[in-house]
Amino acid sequence: MKRLFSGVQPSGNLTIGNYLGAIKQFVDLQHEAEAFYCVVDLHAITVPQDPAELRKRSREIAQLYLACGVDPSKATIFIQSHVKEHAELGWLLQCASYMGELGRMTQFKDKSEGKAAVNVGLYTYPVLMAADILLYDTTQVPVGDDQKQHIELTRDIAERFNKRYGDTFVIPDPQIQEFGARIMALDEPTKKMSKSAENEGSRIAILEDPAIFKKKIMRAVTDTENEIRFDEENKPGVSNLLTIYSMFAGESVESLVNRYQGKGYGDLKKDLVEVMTDKLGTIQKRFEELNDVTELDNILRAGSEKARATAEKTVNRVKEAMGLVLL
Ligand code: TYM
Repeated sequence: MKRLFSGVQPSGNLTIGNYLGAIKQFVDLQHEAEAFYCVVDLHAITVPQDPAELRKRSREIAQLYLACGVDPSKATIFIQSHVKEHAELGWLLQCASYMGELGRMTQFKDKSEGKAAVNVGLYTYPVLMAADILLYDTTQVPVGDDQKQHIELTRDIAERFNKRYGDTFVIPDPQIQEFGARIMALDEPTKKMSKSAENEGSRIAILEDPAIFKKKIMRAVTDTENEIRFDEENKPGVSNLLTIYSMFAGESVESLVNRYQGKGYGDLKKDLVEVMTDKLGTIQKRFEELNDVTELDNILRAGSEKARATAEKTVNRVKEAMGLVLL
């Protein structure tokens, strides 16, 4: 049976990159398989967070899942720290992981580069991520392209464990879209759009005011030609705008390119703002309507109970395999 698991860190305001690369997939796939969608707060604390802000953001991400269309009667939505088995399996798997393989993770290299002191959590981050995925016998992990390396590591750890201790884990596959797996920064379209980048103009938040994202789109870096064509290598800026447009409008890039023959970048940008105002407006309206904290907490409580039932069984299976005493 197909089983999905994915997570988003409450480490900043979610961007349209998070939406198009991951959350949109969560919504589309929830009808096809049993799904667990997590707010990974334990991952967020691998870098310093303001406690009040973190608490607010963690709920906000769950609220955004719902506003984007995740249905709690279909998918299990919960906060990672509410299911203690994540931390527990994280430890058990650390004892089956190697320093060398963790040191090779590009996310670790990027986040630790040039820092005098690097905390251990940042280093073992991918092992906790492996625990998240393996706890639920996950078959598919819907993510953006930047998470591919972590999922490959998860597979390596699981395969190694199965070889050493006998069949314990299901080996998961990444589920990465062919298109939209990497939404690029608006100011520098050769870099990934990121919720933590310094320049606010590089990204658009899902909850952003249309007047603000209009300015960012109109200022988005393109090129000196004035030809609307999809060519990621030579025209990364225009190609990125076409990708975003296509995904929000549900219209193919070929059709867009045909429709904009002879028109300029300004026309493309203006229409993109309109499409985004419409789509994000719907999400933002639903987000506002869902602002009852008690109701949200009830969904999260029910989600964590459901998740824990599965997670507990997996941890017991792992402990048994490793030779820990179960009473
Ligand atoms: P995070 O919080 O950085 O991002 C959440 C999801 O959004 C995707 N994403 C993008 N997709 C396309 N274009 C972009 N510019 C873009 N930016 C972000 C990410 O690929 C991700 O799918 N390590 C994970 C969180 C995590 C997790 C897990 C994911 C923890 N445990 C288990 C899956 C399964 C992360 O930092 O995602």
